[in-house]
Amino acid sequence: MSHSSLSFEVLPGGRLSGTVRVPGDKSISHRAVMFASLAEGVSEVRGFLSGEDCLCTMNAFRAMGVKIEQLEATRLRVHGVGLHGLREPAGALDLGNSGTSMRLMTGLLAAQKFPTTLVGDESLSRRPMRRIVEPLRQMGARIDTTPNNTAPLKISPAAGLKGISYRSPVASAQVKSGILLAGLYAEGQTEVTEPEASRDHTERMLRAFGVEVEATSGRAALRGGQTLRASDIDVPADISSATFFMLGAAIVPGSELLLSEVGINPTRTGVIEILRRMGAEIDLLNPRQFGGEPVADLRVRGRPLRGIAVDKALVAAAIDEFPAVFIAAACARGETVVSGAEELRVKESDRIQAMCDGLLALGISARGRPDGARIAGGRLQGGTVDSKGDHRVAMSFAIGALRAEQPVRILDCANVNTSFPGFAALASGAGLGIRVRS
Ligand code: S3P
Repeated sequence: MSHSSLSFEVLPGGRLSGTVRVPGDKSISHRAVMFASLAEGVSEVRGFLSGEDCLCTMNAFRAMGVKIEQLEATRLRVHGVGLHGLREPAGALDLGNSGTSMRLMTGLLAAQKFPTTLVGDESLSRRPMRRIVEPLRQMGARIDTTPNNTAPLKISPAAGLKGISYRSPVASAQVKSGILLAGLYAEGQTEVTEPEASRDHTERMLRAFGVEVEATSGRAALRGGQTLRASDIDVPADISSATFFMLGAAIVPGSELLLSEVGINPTRTGVIEILRRMGAEIDLLNPRQFGGEPVADLRVRGRPLRGIAVDKALVAAAIDEFPAVFIAAACARGETVVSGAEELRVKESDRIQAMCDGLLALGISARGRPDGARIAGGRLQGGTVDSKGDHRVAMSFAIGALRAEQPVRILDCANVNTSFPGFAALASGAGLGIRVRS
């Protein structure tokens, strides 16, 4: 299927209102499928994100012999095969657009007794894999990449992995989790430390499956040889998807929107802090727990926004939310400066470039820097923006149209389905004048 022909056309003006429940958390949904597959016994996953990325993970485990019943779009029954029960797949595993699938599964598959090949789409085939392959090689793994250290990844059985103590140069939950998954099969202890704390869903969910994990901010460690026991998982609404609705309410003064059951794991809530510092009013109502993950309903009220210097300490906890932050900056009074965010250049697209190009096309002064950007708040004109096939870029500009003076057309939007199936319908129900054109 050609993705490039799908576009969004969004009318300017309007405001979002009402109560919205966005789909399940992508990071947690991936991990639920993986860990339930590796567990002893049957687990149910409720609130599963039935988006293309997580379906890639699900299909990969099915291809390795795991029975996964999709009882409803968002409800899975996973018949775990145990740590040593996966079988060699018939062909290469296609992980589509999903970096999480590829980096976590590389760690897991490096420890198997059969070979595998991991492939992805054009975007995933450009993304850096050395960061995961290198530490796994130190553990004894046998992995071949292209000369550019990209996928396809060819993973061969190794004689046996050894635990390592790895100091990661990047704060990356994908790298940390891939190493920990290999560590489940390794001799001795496997430890990962990071320059800043990345999201800790792996540590929390492994514990729910009965694995002993030592975890403090910026460090995680486990012993090899532990068994995962089946556990039912309730997946919270994805704060990264809720972000687009938070943004929509925040940039239109006078709006009020309620977002229900949103995951508020403190390693993910950087965007709430950033929008609050810019002037948005966000309240966390009815805080509760979904398994090991904190959840709340978020009430967002639009207020005039001001530009800020985004604190580097908030970058890791808001890493997927910068496309939305760039739009908030364009709608704020004064200048916003983002720095320490060079990781944005190696996401599904180069998000600094994609966002600056799109903002410029809409008449906003946005200058990229190697590790961020300077954005001067102003008036968003109408126009055409290329999302570069990046789901979060596409959704951010769609919401930005609320503050535009003319319609905004966004190209290459099919990948919105990787993380947020039903985005256009949900946004339209909340008040966005959005049409999907194929
Ligand atoms: C993810 C980790 C982050 C994030 C991605 C999901 C995860 O990537 O950007 O969307 O589920 O572990 P990095 O580990 O590359 O920072």
